[in-house]
Amino acid sequence: MLCAGTACVSNKSFKIKEALNEELKKQGLDKEVLVVMTGCNGFCAVGPVMTVMPDGIFYHSLTKDIIPHLVEEHFLKGRPVKRLMFTPPAEEVVIPKIMDIGFFSRQTLISLRNRGLIDPEIIDEYIARDGYKALAKALTEMTPEEIITEVKKSGLRGRGGAGFPTGLKWELCRNQPGDTKYIVCNGDEGDPGAYMDRSIVEADPHSVIEGMLIGARAIGASKGYVYIRAEYPLAMKRLEIALDQARDYGLVGEKIFDTDFSFDISIKQGAGAFVCGEETSLIGSIEGRPPEPRQRPPYPIESGLWGKPTNINNVETWATIPVIIDRGADWFSSIGTELSKGTKVFSLVGKINNTGLVEVPMGITLKEIIYDIGGGIPKGKKFKAIQTGGPSGGCIPASLINLPVDYEKLTEAGSIMGSGGLIVMDEDTCVVDVAKYFIEFTNDESCGKCASCRDGSSELLEILKRICRGEGQEEDIQTLEELCNAIKDASMCGLGQTLPNPVLSTLKYFKDEYIEHIKYKRCSALVCKGIISSACQHICPISQDVPSYIGLIARGKFQEAIKVVRKENPLPLVCGRVCNTPCEGKCVAGEWDDPIAIRLLKRFLADYEMKHGAEIEEKPKSVKEERVAIVGSGPGGLTCAHYLALEGYKVTVFESQEMPGGMLALGIPDFRLPKNVLKYEIDRIKRLGVEIKTNTTIGKDISLDKLKEEYKAVFIAIGAQKGLKMKIPGEDAEGVIDAIEFLRDINLGRKVKIGDKVIVVGGGNSAIDAARVAKRLGKDTKILYRRTRAEMPAIKSEIEEALTEGIDIQFLAAPVNVISSNGKLEAIECIRMELGEMDQSGRRRPIPVEGSEFKVEVDTLILAISQQPDVSLLSGNGLNISKWNTIEVDPETLSTNIEGIFAGGDVVTGPNTVTEAMAHGKTAAQMIDKYIKGEKLEREYKVTRPALRVEAVKLTEEETKRLKRPKVQSMPVDQRLKDFSEVELGFTEADAILEAKRCLRCDLEAKEEK
Ligand SMILES: Cc1cc2nc3c(=O)[nH]c(=O)nc-3n(C[C@H](O)[C@H](O)[C@H](O)COP(=O)(O)OP(=O)(O)OC[C@H]3O[C@@H](n4cnc5c(N)ncnc54)[C@H](O)[C@@H]3O)c2cc1C
Ligand SMILES: Cc1cc2nc3c(=O)[nH]c(=O)nc-3n(C[C@H](O)[C@H](O)[C@H](O)COP(=O)(O)O)c2cc1C
Ligand code: SF4
Ligand code: SF4
Ligand code: FES
Repeated sequence: MLCAGTACVSNKSFKIKEALNEELKKQGLDKEVLVVMTGCNGFCAVGPVMTVMPDGIFYHSLTKDIIPHLVEEHFLKGRPVKRLMFTPPAEEVVIPKIMDIGFFSRQTLISLRNRGLIDPEIIDEYIARDGYKALAKALTEMTPEEIITEVKKSGLRGRGGAGFPTGLKWELCRNQPGDTKYIVCNGDEGDPGAYMDRSIVEADPHSVIEGMLIGARAIGASKGYVYIRAEYPLAMKRLEIALDQARDYGLVGEKIFDTDFSFDISIKQGAGAFVCGEETSLIGSIEGRPPEPRQRPPYPIESGLWGKPTNINNVETWATIPVIIDRGADWFSSIGTELSKGTKVFSLVGKINNTGLVEVPMGITLKEIIYDIGGGIPKGKKFKAIQTGGPSGGCIPASLINLPVDYEKLTEAGSIMGSGGLIVMDEDTCVVDVAKYFIEFTNDESCGKCASCRDGSSELLEILKRICRGEGQEEDIQTLEELCNAIKDASMCGLGQTLPNPVLSTLKYFKDEYIEHIKYKRCSALVCKGIISSACQHICPISQDVPSYIGLIARGKFQEAIKVVRKENPLPLVCGRVCNTPCEGKCVAGEWDDPIAIRLLKRFLADYEMKHGAEIEEKPKSVKEERVAIVGSGPGGLTCAHYLALEGYKVTVFESQEMPGGMLALGIPDFRLPKNVLKYEIDRIKRLGVEIKTNTTIGKDISLDKLKEEYKAVFIAIGAQKGLKMKIPGEDAEGVIDAIEFLRDINLGRKVKIGDKVIVVGGGNSAIDAARVAKRLGKDTKILYRRTRAEMPAIKSEIEEALTEGIDIQFLAAPVNVISSNGKLEAIECIRMELGEMDQSGRRRPIPVEGSEFKVEVDTLILAISQQPDVSLLSGNGLNISKWNTIEVDPETLSTNIEGIFAGGDVVTGPNTVTEAMAHGKTAAQMIDKYIKGEKLEREYKVTRPALRVEAVKLTEEETKRLKRPKVQSMPVDQRLKDFSEVELGFTEADAILEAKRCLRCDLEAKEEK
């Protein structure tokens, strides 16, 4: 069964058919194997697809060239070809049979009952699968009233969008006076991305014809029309063939089944506009008038085509009828929910692994559709929302993922069932942009009769465009809401009445995102070009002007480039080594190739400066008398000190340890961040006049109150220094140590005693660092992590390095008991985990697998679970502290509840990253400056823009060929384990320039767009 649906045909399935027939003949198999061309099989994303019967072996992504091999292996030698079988994304095991593939196995096929099983161009194949049996029953065993009763009893509701009960509509139409009545099949299907109706007609045209025949009999109509859009030529052709064949068989025409029932069908080609699908507009179009909706009542059942009673149903509604008559209303109504019976066909598109056409029972949850059938979100990204009901539907957020899909529940959630479009959105989708897109569509499609719809949608569009450009006003949100409600109330047809849904639903569930665009000039999905300019700069916590410095590297202007970097970043040598690179995660080049090596390019510049000396060093802008105290010399404290010193303030940093740098000095080991590199950065900050007092603990050596008295303002950036315990029995045994203390001792050059068998528990940077240190101390080292590698929070390249260095990482395992003898650690009992439901972090929760306990011998167990701030020395001063031991601040100004005291970095956020702590340091410096000057504590938010316009460099042909992310030079594994020398060695000049040239310079594109 080879698919000849539109998607597979456009992927050359007819060429595959030719190749198959040719090869089968060559192998002498043409009498034994028949190639049947079917309609759409549903799994269009992996087309062309083929199912080999009777076993149901499913092959996908077929090409002509593979056919000889396939025929020889499968049909001649009986060895199905594994590599053409389906493997679910992110899994490694192929699934040979169609019914074992989640995409198919979770579906219930009623309207699509024959898809992929028959040749739609051969009526006998339809008949062989009980086709026209229901018609025979309806004509020979049932009265029209009985047919209507059966359809009413089934609970079937129209699948075209509004969900009106089909049997009731038929009854109302039948009861209209007059002999001439019409029925119409609505196959206009104007929703972007939807193709349910097209697919049904292409795969099984007789099911629609049979449904219409039964309906005509029930209603008392002798003429029907199928309205199909002109863009569906294949559907049209198959329908024509089917009608001709049905006429030849006497199933359409005069005296069908020798009864007094006569009925004929004409096909009417649609004009293509979305509004043509609205029933009154469609009637106009069939009659040859302009397709414009008109006021209802009268409804089409009263006065439809040429003023006669006309029953209009959707393609899917008609295709369902024969099954209801054949199998009975009770059977049908046993499927689905109380008020929504049977199944619904959806076109599942957007950010989902298995896109395609699915038919599912009403009441199935969104989660089952997205994960069990759709295979989840590509590239492990987070599910954000789903748009149901097409352009006039609504956007349902991830928090409602367990919502059962039926008419009522979707309406309650602020959306509609519509005709069945499901558009899945991931974290990279901006909902404001989505609302704009749909309003753009409906505004375009409005017939213009009603001012509310025509002008209202234009006004909505203008406001949404403005918000997406970063020019929104706070009052825009209220205006949008009011305008939406007015459009809903005043518009005549369903288009106007429903077009506000995407705006209203996104406002309902994602108001924060609108505020983010309007007030903070942020688009966290990195979509709205007017706001973000380039994804890399917008996402960088310290707003590094990445495109400009990369553009300057491409031109060989390294000193200019490092100046651009330093403007926003006082620690480029550090960030060039240890930044966790959120920018690279979102780099546009990374969508189809490796992301640009943004961190390593920064490192190249910082190293270049350290080697060649800076051209000019920053100097304080003025000299101020006011003194500011900073508590903690980590990246947060140092950054704040740098920017305050530049403003001319006298800054003193108090550090309780003997060495400044916070986790940069005492957490991260030398092989990732050498001490001399950190010293170079700190010395620069000191040269601005910053004084650093080490071995001075605030709260012990000097009280916070005293600092407050002596300094104009205080910034607390004491980090998150306290390692958490696992809370399992026995963990106080000798030999169980904390990763932070272990790393601190190593970094301070202290002697550390650990055993030969070391296990580190955790998955963050401290776990990886602790393990790599233990390995360098010559110990047999393992890491136990309770989730999988994909969920590990540590920097990906560091995980890679740990594995390269021979560290064994056991995923999906966690300790449950520490076994010791005389208080001394001997072993740990662990349990295997599996991933369950999502937790609040958006990651799947690890669940212990009962009975999977195992024991591992160990001498030293290093706990690197997580850290918390230690605020015990400061909390007595009236500072507000959260239940997570973080200091509570106003997130915009970083001011604490005590006037003049600000806080930031890990002590506010909990364990985080270097650049996030630096971003807090920057903000705190701005706010402290305002505070001292007596200005209002307010942040200014601007759209992201590069500081410079650096033109892109044209690549030579030769360079274009070589364009690939260069491999960074690093120490060979056998040498690096001997000591703590730096592992990663950075880019050469030539590599840096070539890599910089690979950047797409998204900033230039944004400017051009504006
Ligand atoms: C092992 C490890 C590896 C990491 N690797 C990375 C990485 O590769 N990339 C990344 O982005 N992030 C990494 N992180 C996280 C990052 O280091 C932190 O998020 C960052 O250092 C936090 O900066 P901070 O300024 O808030 O605090 P910290 O860097 O923790 O500095 C706080 C300082 O305050 C001092 N202090 C505490 N109490 C007092 C007091 N009462 N008086 C005076 N001084 C006090 C502390 O001694 C410390 O020096 C890592 C963290 C660890 C533990
Ligand atoms: C703007 C607009 C577009 C519509 N487009 C379609 C369509 O493409 N197909 C469809 O069957 N119904 C569409 N409808 C719904 C029809 O007006 C009508 O309700 C439907 O065809 C009735 O069939 P049903 O009872 O089987 O659902 C549309 C309605 C509106 C307001
Ligand atoms: S609501 Fe819009 S599409 Fe419908 S009739 Fe009015 S203007 Fe035309
Ligand atoms: S391609 Fe260049 S400008 Fe675009 S996101 Fe990546 S680094 Fe930034
Ligand atoms: S067209 Fe072939 S699977 Fe849809």
